[in-house]
Amino acid sequence: MAPRRPIVVASKNGATALPAAMEILRRGGTALDAVEAAARIVEADPADTSVGRGGWPNILGTVEVDASIMDGATRRAGSVGAVRGYLHPISIARAVMERLPHVMLVGDGAMRFAREIGAERSRLLTPRTRGLWLDFLRQVRETPRSVLRRRELAPVVMRTVRLERKGTVNFIAIDRSGHMASAVSTSGWGYKYPGRLGDSPVIGAGNYCDERYGGACCTGFGELALRGLTAKTAVDRLAAGMPPEEVARAAIRDVNELDAPRPAAMNIVVLARDGGYASATNRRYTTLEKRERRRFSVMTSDMSEPLLLDRTLVR
Ligand code: GLY
Repeated sequence: MAPRRPIVVASKNGATALPAAMEILRRGGTALDAVEAAARIVEADPADTSVGRGGWPNILGTVEVDASIMDGATRRAGSVGAVRGYLHPISIARAVMERLPHVMLVGDGAMRFAREIGAERSRLLTPRTRGLWLDFLRQVRETPRSVLRRRELAPVVMRTVRLERKGTVNFIAIDRSGHMASAVSTSGWGYKYPGRLGDSPVIGAGNYCDERYGGACCTGFGELALRGLTAKTAVDRLAAGMPPEEVARAAIRDVNELDAPRPAAMNIVVLARDGGYASATNRRYTTLEKRERRRFSVMTSDMSEPLLLDRTLVR
């Protein structure tokens, strides 16, 4: 394969990690190494409340993280869900792909495997996210003790549906050899029911990469991408010859047809094998400050810093 111009496409919160990912690609590193390294940076950043350390806790105040990684060359994939106390779920997901005959581990099994491979432990709940969780409990007339003693958590979790407490980070890369990979990491739905998994660890829902055509990853209300198998459907549309911009729009149109409580934000980034990219969202932000949240990021090897672009709004 002729040498290719490396590129990484990410959700907006991935922009800070793009220079490090691009450095790996410029040096001839693999797309798989680049997306894993980028996800690790966001996972370790306590300022990002939707991923890794500093991510939203579940309704009981425990941060449970999910991640997945996919090698577009082989379509091998690894993922983990509902992992507690480990800093880099993306690296545990990669180890599932590379060291086990499995694709997905969750909960106690995933944590046992994390221990086996010597994955780095960390306290994921920060004073800031604990404070926000306590604020939420106050709003619904609960305390850490009362919620722990509840026989039914469902009524409290139902109060989280309209909260803007969702988010995730996405990365899709093409390396100099033309190989592709994608990575997704998240703390999932803020104040979720313990054990809830969203789209991020489910291959085909929040993450899919097949370098014969391209890759797609999602952020937002994961239940929608689970119901629509959004990432795989997007790659199928690339395979059918649809341009990335149309693919991204079609993905959000599909999501918008599902019945869901509003706001049910969904966003997608798409990277085609030829380097064409696009992103779309169904989230209409009215203020300039909030519009910032509607962006995605991209970096190619000839850029000195990432570009932030507006996602296409699909109503
Ligand atoms: N999109 C992330 C989640 O729903 O968990």
